[in-house]
Amino acid sequence: MKATTELDHKVLKIDGAEVQVYSTARELAEAAARRFVQLANSFISTEGRFTVALSGGSTPRLMFGLLASKPLVDSIEWSRVYFFWGDERRVPPEDPESNYRAARETLLSKIDAPDENIFRIPAEIEDPELAARRYAAALEDFFRVKGQELPRFDLVLLGMGADAHTASLFPHTAAVRATGKVAVANYVNKLEAYRITLTAEAINEARNIIFLVAGSDKAPALASVLCGSREPETYPSQLIRPASGSLVWMIDEAASAQLRARVAD
Ligand code: 6PG
Repeated sequence: MKATTELDHKVLKIDGAEVQVYSTARELAEAAARRFVQLANSFISTEGRFTVALSGGSTPRLMFGLLASKPLVDSIEWSRVYFFWGDERRVPPEDPESNYRAARETLLSKIDAPDENIFRIPAEIEDPELAARRYAAALEDFFRVKGQELPRFDLVLLGMGADAHTASLFPHTAAVRATGKVAVANYVNKLEAYRITLTAEAINEARNIIFLVAGSDKAPALASVLCGSREPETYPSQLIRPASGSLVWMIDEAASAQLRARVAD
């Protein structure tokens, strides 16, 4: 592991992965929001649009709030941004558990993103397999891909659970082994619920993947994912290896606590 000190964070290189370590969750959110703006404006100027799959959970809320506030909110032409999700719980869009609702509350309701730019996962559909097929079809249609081709997001934002899951790719669940699909319905025993999730293959097509991980409760899993043996069934975040894009882990000090110990062994 090589540590270099940049302006406002340390950079660790662990087994080829770039890990940016910020002092606090707030500094992490600020850096992630700035990176989002940078990527959005770069793709909007070169491609005329920016396609992003948002993560769920609580970690990105602070970042979404910063993107929805001055000065950042005025630094993106939001009508050129297309929003997707990495995963969704099987609840209606107005449910407190909904990842879509979290993004709408903290970001989408505060920017002028046209409704037609927002591709919610229809997770409320009774049949979870149908919900996954509908979402996959919407992605294939938008990205104009067919057959075995996979959509290519400009950015996929991911979180990581304390059990090393990402999106809704949970340890020892069928979705961890899914191939040839864009999105699947994944039954998660420990939640006793289905989730709808992008597959690791679809995520790995992205041009940019950013993991946002904060909090001491994530430290053990992060050390296993980044420094432990390769066991993606147990640590599904290890599945995330972009085919040709970039992967950056943006974490806070608390989440990094066990990294050095593991690598220093
Ligand atoms: C979800 C997410 C999930 C999340 C991690 C981290 O639907 O919950 O997409 O993958 O990113 O569980 O969640 P926190 O940010 O709440 O710790």
